[in-house]
Amino acid sequence: MQATKREADLPRARELIAQARRVVALTGAGISAESGVPTFRDAGGLWRNYRPEELATIGAFERDPRTVWEWYEWRRGFLATCNPNDGHRALARFFLGRGEDGIVTQNVDGLHTRAAIEEAGDAPPDAALPIEIHGAIARDRCNECGLRAEAEPLAVRDDGARRTGGGEPPPGDPLPRCAECGGLRRPDVVLFGEMLDSALLERAQTMAARADLCLVIGTSAVVYPAAGIPLATLHGGGRIIEVNPQATDLTRAAEVALRGAAGEVLPELLA
Ligand code: OAD
Repeated sequence: MQATKREADLPRARELIAQARRVVALTGAGISAESGVPTFRDAGGLWRNYRPEELATIGAFERDPRTVWEWYEWRRGFLATCNPNDGHRALARFFLGRGEDGIVTQNVDGLHTRAAIEEAGDAPPDAALPIEIHGAIARDRCNECGLRAEAEPLAVRDDGARRTGGGEPPPGDPLPRCAECGGLRRPDVVLFGEMLDSALLERAQTMAARADLCLVIGTSAVVYPAAGIPLATLHGGGRIIEVNPQATDLTRAAEVALRGAAGEVLPELLA
């Protein structure tokens, strides 16, 4: 039944894409689900099994940086085993050479960038690279002075075994420190209780407000300000196409809702 509805909606969605002068895409965890990356709120999602307030808040980091570090190191290790899927690749191909259009992602997994490099070679144009409004897990940032740095692997335990280095980490194993100011480093991701990078958010909102079409892919659209980005397109007179197996709060605002997995729908939609 759903597939039939999707087949019926696909021509209309293609027509909107063909007519659009400027397109923006907002992606969420769902686009990486077929790469094996768990989402946050679906059955089996990260927030169903872990408590965000213990792991992904600035308060938790200030109280217990080691536990927060260990959680992100676990995620880094896990993400190292994941690869871009057909959805990431279709989107990267679509945005290659689209000038001022682009991808805004809530994902910190780096898979859009990897897909763009796969599709375009080492130096993809900006339009194929995402604006990562929630940061990038593969990077570190100083919690004091904000200096960004390449991630430095932390020696942590993962199910009793030490993943990096070898042997058991000593209990006082130092956490990574900033080379400039000596402050504690942390993964360069937005934690709950923190503001988003205002310059990145403004770029994303401006892009969305100018777009006549916003593709909203694989997000539950409940976390703001990200969930407000498609509304900027709508308020500017543009339209929304949603790609998601489930309905969301944004579905009502979408001109077309394509029910299905991004890895299947996007190659068909953007071919
Ligand atoms: P959620 O876990 O809230 O939502 C994932 C969405 O993806 C759901 O609507 C699913 O129906 C959909 N989905 C699942 N599989 C899919 C597939 N194969 N193709 C397309 N869609 C699929 O994830 P986000 O909306 O990304 O923030 O969550 C937003 C933010 O909440 C995250 O960036 C993170 C989290 O707390 C921070 O960490 C700051």
